[in-house]
Amino acid sequence: MNILILGGGGREHSLAWAVMQNPKCDKLIVAPGNAGIAQIATCAALDIEDSAAVIGFAEEEAIDFVIIGPEAPLAAGVSDDLRAAGFLTFGPSKAAAQLEASKAFTKEICDAANAPTAGYGHFTDAASAKAYIQEKGAPIVVKADGLAAGKGVVVAMTLEEALGAVDDMFGGAFGGAGAEVVIEEFMDGEEASFFILCDGENVLPIGTAQDHKRVGDGDTGPNTGGMGAYSPAPVLSDAIAEQALNEIVKPCVAEMAKRGTPYQGVLYAGLMIKDGAPRLVEYNARFGDPECQVLMMRLGGQVLDLLQATAEETLADAKVNWADDHAMTVVMAAKGYPGAYEKGTPIGGLETLEDDSFNVAFHAGTSEKAGAIVATGGRVLNITARGDTLAEAHKRAYDMVDAIDWPDGFYRRDIGWRAL
Ligand code: AMP
Ligand code: GLY
Repeated sequence: MNILILGGGGREHSLAWAVMQNPKCDKLIVAPGNAGIAQIATCAALDIEDSAAVIGFAEEEAIDFVIIGPEAPLAAGVSDDLRAAGFLTFGPSKAAAQLEASKAFTKEICDAANAPTAGYGHFTDAASAKAYIQEKGAPIVVKADGLAAGKGVVVAMTLEEALGAVDDMFGGAFGGAGAEVVIEEFMDGEEASFFILCDGENVLPIGTAQDHKRVGDGDTGPNTGGMGAYSPAPVLSDAIAEQALNEIVKPCVAEMAKRGTPYQGVLYAGLMIKDGAPRLVEYNARFGDPECQVLMMRLGGQVLDLLQATAEETLADAKVNWADDHAMTVVMAAKGYPGAYEKGTPIGGLETLEDDSFNVAFHAGTSEKAGAIVATGGRVLNITARGDTLAEAHKRAYDMVDAIDWPDGFYRRDIGWRAL
């Protein structure tokens, strides 16, 4: 099977690493990829949001299966166009990816499916949004409706902050994404992520994870795309996961099918758990980054069969072979992230790391320059390890981190503290 993965972050490096281990994989190309991916697969420069370019390339390379990593090509309809051109494709249609691309749409689906989530209001002008906030009081959560690169959510502890967020959003701080605003009840509890493959009709849970969004130790400082993650998430017990599947995921997937926009791909459900009950915070239409890295580490080569069954709509017959193990990933980022940071700084020590089914340094933002690996992004490396216990995975991951010589990088020392 000739496989094309779209994307070039740590998520796609881990997908490529897992897919490669499956004997069905004959040829693997990742576009655009990065310096770490280039060590295990062919990388190709390609505008992955341009359907015509992707289809032309897939035809040239006789691709049998396309796996879409990030949300941007999904929102651009690349999966629809690939399927229309006859390519087996993993990733939801543009219509189904609305579950990530529009927060108001997701709330509407939850209403119709009777899925537990925060109460909300949906507004297209600042005055009525502010009146709603005055009526409900703080804490309250203000969200730009559209895709805002993970930055469109303000969890406001005071009225002033909430009202300010409304002004910012309608003032264009998030461009078109903020033309509509969703205001939600503040939910208290512990957050965890639940990953479910859906083939339009059937669902198959493939793992749970927890991440650390704040930049600093002790969960302090500004929000980031995620500074580390671990799987499984202890707070998502089998019973709570089952409840989330039955009360939230299955009814929403059924509602999507009923509307003629079946959901096919991975559904990433962000959950808030309190007093043993899960409520939906949000859906994403793709794997989390860095959550994918810990899932791939645990699932290995079977991932290709599972993603293929999703795209071929045969999930009813698929099953996951679980190992009773744990995985952790530590993100190494460029100093300054999530603010401004320097690009092109050299990273040493990578060649000294163990590289096996227990230890992998996934690359997120790197390139090769004169034989050396240099940092080219904010989040740069995802140092990932697996073990019989989370403590073992933690030790392996940090042993690797300690062997990396990157004076211009930083990382959190406390990934997994809640579970350890
Ligand atoms: P999102 O971009 O929707 O993932 O939101 C980012 C983060 O904001 C989530 O991971 C939560 O930590 C927080 N958040 C979003 N909605 C709520 C809510 N209704 N109550 C409390 N926290 C929330
Ligand atoms: N790590 C959070 C995300 O991928 O959205």
